[in-house]
Amino acid sequence: MIFTVAIDGPAAAGKGTISRRLAAQFGFAHLDTGLLYRAVGAMGGDPVAAAQALSPADLDRPGLRSLEAGQAASRVAAIPEVRAALVAFQRRFARREGGAVLDGRDIGTVISPEAEVKLFVTASAEVRARRRFDELEAAAPGAQDYDTVLAQTRERDARDMGRADAPLRPAEDAVMLDTTDLSIEAAVTRACDLVADALARA
Ligand code: DC
Repeated sequence: MIFTVAIDGPAAAGKGTISRRLAAQFGFAHLDTGLLYRAVGAMGGDPVAAAQALSPADLDRPGLRSLEAGQAASRVAAIPEVRAALVAFQRRFARREGGAVLDGRDIGTVISPEAEVKLFVTASAEVRARRRFDELEAAAPGAQDYDTVLAQTRERDARDMGRADAPLRPAEDAVMLDTTDLSIEAAVTRACDLVADALARA
């Protein structure tokens, strides 16, 4: 069975949790595509060459989840040649046998416009910054302040939405899931229901 779930949205909206839970629930493979851009950003040197040479081992490097790695990822992600180098791998993953969940910024619009389910997960910048801040606090108490996290969240949103190539935006047929006032459990339940309905129709 070929079945793709495309999950897009800004940083810390809940895409990662929803994707992991969907993959576990339905036995689908999961690809966090942000990790590809984070790995390219962390490799230093020429980002186009880094994207062309990217291997699975690069995705296991330490530090890829940090705020700095997120900013570096957002910068290299604006380079069309970097994006082009990563398309084929993502498209193969999306149409692999057995079902796949991909989360990112351009899955429903560019990587898998044919996806059987498309979700756009969002939340206010303040709520997303608070979630990211709480995560960072849990890992390293006192190492950062909320205002910096909020400023970086806004900066990254503006860059990801403003770039010319594959900007962050919902696909026309995406289901919108705003998690500002929705618990992550409620969001996961809604996403599971949508996938179950689409599977029943497939
Ligand atoms: O989802 P994330 O925070 O790990 O993504 C890091 C950056 O990578 C994000 O700010 C923009 C870029 N990205 C992208 O341009 N396209 C994707 N499909 C995934 C991430």
